[in-house]
Amino acid sequence: MEVCIYRAYEEMSRAAAQLVADVLNAKPNAVLGMATGSTPLGVYQELVKLHQKGEVDFSHVTTFNLDEYVGLPITHEQSYHHFMHENFFRHVNIPPQNIHIPSGTTTNYRAFCEWYEKRIVECGGIDIQILGIGSDGHIAFNEPTSSLSSRTRLKTLAKQTIDDNARFFDKPEDVPIYAITMGVGTIMESKRIVLLANGAKKDQAVAAAVEGPVTSMITASALQMHPSTKMFLDEPAAGKLKMREYYDWIQYHKPGAPRV
Ligand code: PGA
Repeated sequence: MEVCIYRAYEEMSRAAAQLVADVLNAKPNAVLGMATGSTPLGVYQELVKLHQKGEVDFSHVTTFNLDEYVGLPITHEQSYHHFMHENFFRHVNIPPQNIHIPSGTTTNYRAFCEWYEKRIVECGGIDIQILGIGSDGHIAFNEPTSSLSSRTRLKTLAKQTIDDNARFFDKPEDVPIYAITMGVGTIMESKRIVLLANGAKKDQAVAAAVEGPVTSMITASALQMHPSTKMFLDEPAAGKLKMREYYDWIQYHKPGAPRV
């Protein structure tokens, strides 16, 4: 894991967007793993800006989203289909047939989940996956005690996640209880991973994921076993890291490291 700490959310978002743009410029038909939630919004805004400046093209890109609420029609304002369309897809040039988001309204979840897994493989696997982290340490909707080898499936959301996400809904009881989510095992097969976290409300989850034991109680801790994960954090999210000086030391000395 590489831990990169930025002074502010905007700086963190710009750096993560540049990393994604570099992947796309090196491989124009890359497969992007997308996340929803408030955290990646800045990255999407930066990618849209880079696209408008002609610095990144999405015309050969394929995308896979991590998750979707069960039961919300795609037109619902809080569905992740709607979120992605409004905040990203309608501003860039990804061919609609290349966009994949789990269905929250299928009549056969088991078959859909199997198809989603197969489709990722058919498209060559995810080149770079963007992740947020829940205050309970989840990645996608892999709540505490999710198997670290889980695949795309239905999940019951944890009470903490429902409470965290209630801010987006008119009434707390409107938050769906079930979701369809990529598994930890699915995410771990991504070639590169960028996890983003900002704000002090994430400081404990971040510290547990980076410096705690690998445990299904904090599914983000599985990323310690991933060969190429970068944690992009702002100062408050990094506030509880014990090895902070070492992470800064690494970043300071990075430019002088031997080129491989
Ligand atoms: P947030 O959600 O970006 O809205 O904080 C993160 C997550 O639950 O993964």
